[in-house]
Amino acid sequence: MQPFIEYKGIRKSFGDNKVLRGVDLAVAPGESLVILGGSGSGKSVMLKLAIGLLESDGGSIFVEGQEVTGYTEAEWMEVRRKITYVFQWGALFDSMSVFDNVAFPLREQRLCDEKEVARRVGEKLEVVGLQGTERLSPADLSGGMRKRVALARAIVAEPRCILYDEPTSGLDPVTADTINRLIRRLQKMLGVTSVIVTHDIQSMFRVGDRVAFLYEGRMAFVGTPEEARKTDNPVLRGFIEGRSLDEREP
Ligand SMILES: Nc1ncnc2c1ncn2[C@@H]1O[C@H](COP(=O)(O)OP(=O)(O)O)[C@@H](O)[C@H]1O
Ligand SMILES: [Mg+2]
Repeated sequence: MQPFIEYKGIRKSFGDNKVLRGVDLAVAPGESLVILGGSGSGKSVMLKLAIGLLESDGGSIFVEGQEVTGYTEAEWMEVRRKITYVFQWGALFDSMSVFDNVAFPLREQRLCDEKEVARRVGEKLEVVGLQGTERLSPADLSGGMRKRVALARAIVAEPRCILYDEPTSGLDPVTADTINRLIRRLQKMLGVTSVIVTHDIQSMFRVGDRVAFLYEGRMAFVGTPEEARKTDNPVLRGFIEGRSLDEREP
């Protein structure tokens, strides 16, 4: 099967900091793939490369079989219609209502008229369990609810793929669990391909069909969460057993 996103020999440095040193990874259509790695290992960089927020130094990235490496900004805009990137904490606009926040991508890309905007916003808020909150301000919401508004906004333009960057970081375990279940639900309901970047082992077991472990600039392990649990890869073992991994330079 043709991968939805494929990284081939991807390299990326910032000055002397060789972050990605030949990453190979294929994300299958419809799957939920967790990218696990220590802080500073290059997880966010990987996501940003897939939507053109960063440019690689070498290697190729393919989206649905099309090489996107070297795309122009206009071409990246097309890719970003298919693939949505959900940032850490989803950065909502506090000056706008929940409705206007969720409606934002539709209005910005002029995808439909206001009647259709209202229909889709209502539908997506329902999917994330927040129907009736349209008129509230994000400031009135709890951290977990803000996260769900961000998810509603991420899916309102009906992307084929969602990239989640640390979706549960900073959340208490109960809220984190709600978010993880929601990620699964979106994958199943909408059939979206999901890539979830996290350093949270619990999340990996909850949301991953497969897990890819990024270490020292390469994929040190790719397999199912169950295989990860039984791995004899010493670094991944250590990571799973809770030894901290920080790849940032001191
Ligand atoms: N725009 C940038 N300019 C310089 N260095 C960067 C930039 N983005 C990321 N880095 C560096 O690349 C490394 C990986 O970053 P990142 O992908 O954000 O890590 P994480 O795995 O925690 O998401 C870090 O050392 C970070 O400082
Ligand atoms: Mg990051």
